Order: sequence, then C-alpha cells, then structure tokens
Amino acid sequence: MPTLRIDGKEVTVENGTTILKAAESIGIIIPHFCYHPELSIAGNCRMCVVEVERMPKLQTACSTEVSDGMVVHTTTDRVVNARRAIMEFLLINHPLDCPICDQAGECRLQDYSVRYGMASSRFAEEKVKSVKREIFGPHVIYDGERCIKCTRCIRFCYEITKTGELDMFFRGDHSTVGIFPERDLKNDYSGNVVDLCPVGALTLREFRFKSRVWDLKKVNTICPACGRGCNIIAWVKDNRIFRLTPRFNPHVNRSWMCDHGRLSHEFLYRSERLVSPEIMNAERRRLNWKEAFDCVTDALKSILQNHGSGSIHLVVFPFITNEDAFLILKVLKDVFPKSTVSIPIIEIGEDDSLLIRKDRTPNRRGVEEIFREVSSRIISVDDAAKRVKEGMIKSLVVLGEGLTGANDCNILADTPISPLEFSLFIGSFKPWNANDFSAMLPASTWAELDGTFTNFEGFVQRIFPSVLSSCESRPLWKIVQELGSRIGTRCAFRSASSVFEKLAEEHQSYRELRYFSLTDESRIKK
Ligand code: SF4
Ligand code: SF4
Ligand code: FES
Repeated sequence: MPTLRIDGKEVTVENGTTILKAAESIGIIIPHFCYHPELSIAGNCRMCVVEVERMPKLQTACSTEVSDGMVVHTTTDRVVNARRAIMEFLLINHPLDCPICDQAGECRLQDYSVRYGMASSRFAEEKVKSVKREIFGPHVIYDGERCIKCTRCIRFCYEITKTGELDMFFRGDHSTVGIFPERDLKNDYSGNVVDLCPVGALTLREFRFKSRVWDLKKVNTICPACGRGCNIIAWVKDNRIFRLTPRFNPHVNRSWMCDHGRLSHEFLYRSERLVSPEIMNAERRRLNWKEAFDCVTDALKSILQNHGSGSIHLVVFPFITNEDAFLILKVLKDVFPKSTVSIPIIEIGEDDSLLIRKDRTPNRRGVEEIFREVSSRIISVDDAAKRVKEGMIKSLVVLGEGLTGANDCNILADTPISPLEFSLFIGSFKPWNANDFSAMLPASTWAELDGTFTNFEGFVQRIFPSVLSSCESRPLWKIVQELGSRIGTRCAFRSASSVFEKLAEEHQSYRELRYFSLTDESRIKK
C-alpha cells in the first residue's frame, strides 16, 4: 500500500486511491466541482488541482492516483493562483444573480468565491447569454447561464438511472446542457440531478422560490414512501416541511432517493386530516380525548362481553412504527386473545433495480416480525371481509391508515363497515368511508413522530419528528396504550425509546439493538 505526504501529513492508502480521496481520509478537503464519489471521474472543472513534487504541471487531485513516496501540496501560491484563475473563468459569463438564486447558501460557486474569487471582474466584454428557465421535466428546470458544465447531471442520467436524457451540446462558451429531442427528464429519480448540481443551474420546480435555505431547519429522518426506507433530510420552516433531500447511507440508499419519496411530504397537507376524536352516532360529534376514550372503551368492553374477543378484527397498516406495532401486539395478547389480524398489502408497480420497492409501506418487515408470534391469527383482508359479511366479525379496529399521508389504498373498499356493531378508525387522515366508522381517533403522522421503521432488508432506522402536530393527534402507540390499560392490559410507557427497549428485551430479532445507539448498520437478526 502506498504511503505519501499531503501538506506534511503522512498517509497510507489502498493502491488506486486518488489524491483527493487520500487527502479526505486525513481531513484535508480539496475544493472540487465535477467530482462526485458516486459518479465516474470527469476531471473537467480543474478546481481540484494540486502540486505534486517532481511533476512539472499541476495535477487534478480527483483523477490522479497516489504512488509510494509522493509529496503533495494543496495550498501553495501556485495552486491558489490556479484556482483563482479557474474561478475567474467560471464567473466570466455567470449572471451573478445570487440574491434571486435558489442555490444561494448551499452553492459551491459562492463558497469558493469567498476563498478564491476576486472582488471585481476584469471582464469588460458582453457576457454570452444562454438558455433560461428551460423545463427539463416535470420536476427540474435548467438555467444555462448558471451552469458550470461539470456534467454531474449528465453522468447521473447515463450511469445511475441509465436513461441518458441529458448531454452537452455545442462548443466553447456556447456549450450547454440539453435534453434530447422528444424526451423529457422524467425518470423516477430526476430530482437527484438538482442535489448533484453544485450551483443553481438545476432547480426543483416544487421548491423553487419557496424559501431561502438558511431559513430552513434540517431534520434527519427516513422516507416513509416505500419499504426501502431511504435516509433523508427534512427541511423545515414555520412547522412545515418544504423539501426532502437524500442523506448518504451506504447500506440503504447511498446518495439517492426517488421522486415519489422526495415529494411525499406534500401528502401531509391534504385537507382530510383528522384533527380531533369524532364519534358517528345519530349525529357526527367531535369529542375531547377523555370523552372519546370513555366512549370507545365502553363499546369495546360491551363487544367483548357479548361476543368475546374472537368477534373483534384488527386491520394493522404497516405505515406504523415498530413501537406502535409492539403496543398493538401487547394489547392483542392481553385483552383480545382470540382476535384476528390483517396486515394489508399496498403495492404499486414493480421493484426496480435501484431503490424503489413496490411495497409502498415503510415498515412491513418490522410489523410482520413483531406479529410473528401471533402469525396463526393473521388472515388476509379478503378473508376478513368475508367474515364481516358472514357476521363472524362484529367489530373492526383499523390502525395506522394514512400515517404517511399517502392515501393510495382503498383496502377496505369491499368491507361493509356500517353493519358492524362497532368500528374504530385510528389514523391521520379520514378514509374515503369515514362516515361509516363508529369512532375515529387522530394519530400523529410519520413527520410528527419519534420511533423506528425496519426496512425490507431488516435495517432498523430511527425517524425523528420534523414538525409538531397542529391538531389534537397523538402517537398511535399512546392511543393504543390508553385503550389497552382501560380494558385490562398493564403498561405505562412514557416514550418511544422505552417501548423500543422493551421490544428489544422481549423480541429475539431486536435483542441486541439499543434505541439511542442505532447506526447505519443496525439490523434485526435473521
Ligand atoms: S446543470 Fe449543474 S450539474 Fe449539470 S453540468 Fe451544469 S452545473 Fe453541472
Ligand atoms: S425509494 Fe422508497 S424509500 Fe427511497 S425515496 Fe423512494 S419511496 Fe422513499
Ligand atoms: S473535481 Fe477534479 S477536475 Fe473537477
């Protein structure tokens, strides 16, 4: 393995490592535009040049492999002057419109200008004009004057999605990124080119001009829109999520996320939000939580007394967290020992070869794992519907529908709810047949919760509350715990972490996991 010196620090790295990566491994960050760890090396921006002893010309750190005994300097006058010259070139035709550019605050051109830029331009000629506001696709807009031709976006479409919609057209200072005729940039991952663009040339149509980035608070969390569980950042202002961007996790999603997940926060602002407990007897009434718990407990107790727990069926949507699932299981074992359960399947399309899973729920693996000990009581939704029609099921409890806001499922469409003696809905958004339910209790959405999801490969990942609930909703596990304790189970958990600790204690697959020490590699045992 070669050993080299970079700015006086010795480092030993694997054969084939580039100077840029070797420097990064000892905390020396070399400025760069076109290099991206997930893409092929283009070496076209020249911003990463460094001085290597015994090499007469400056070398690009992103494409030059280290060799034993190499001595590299990253901050000499020669290097700094070269970077200054590159910045001057890049800014010759740039519109310098930072005050109205969405990228301001997270733009490499801005950042490097502070370090290497000149206070004023020596360029007195007319700037070359280029395309403005060109619509590349349903989510992406291009501004050719801001583009520094790094080709990251082009390489992404050729190498990652393999759809190749983009390329570089024309020559010299007229060169521009363009889209092939009759094509749109509408692959399932198009939003990633906006994250990749180091300047403000590509912007997301749904986020453009919505907020300055420095006004947004960042919350690390997990995408709720399919079984992959991509690691993401929620960008929040005024208690509202403005955008979602991917967060690097080498085991789950690397640097990417799909467009469906990227825009999934928009579902949260649907008008059908269930804002307070409601009962639907002669007239529809909103209740406070105490009245609602009294009413629901009385109804469930009466069913238990008259027909036994076998007449109660639970529909558990895998939008819920592991903590919710654990509490439901506890109540199921303690007070509904003969009740049956369905875990609906919500699938759209097919799994693709990059990230997207056809299972559009974030926690199927977790819920199925936790419910494994009552697997003999799990029946399909269709069977449950038949049993409702045959009168074997007198009461239905639907848990966790719509916690992600996505309402793609009319799972209960064929299940007649109204003839049941009692039907309870615990979820975040009113279902299409809301008026058929005897009672509805508002649960917090994915964005308001602390908890964990287990992705389809078994990685256990924490979700963090990005926003506060603006209605009377409560975490589903707390609602279930309150109902359970009123009917006869004993538990008094105070936080999602304490529920998870109990889950880890009682459940073999989760045994060695600790809530506050979950890492990128934490996964359930097979
Ligand atoms: S649009 Fe952005 S990512 Fe694409 S070449 Fe231009 S600067 Fe690079
Ligand atoms: S692949 Fe799945 S988890 Fe990842 S961003 Fe898309 S919907 Fe979300
Ligand atoms: S980052 Fe090395 S040439 Fe662009």
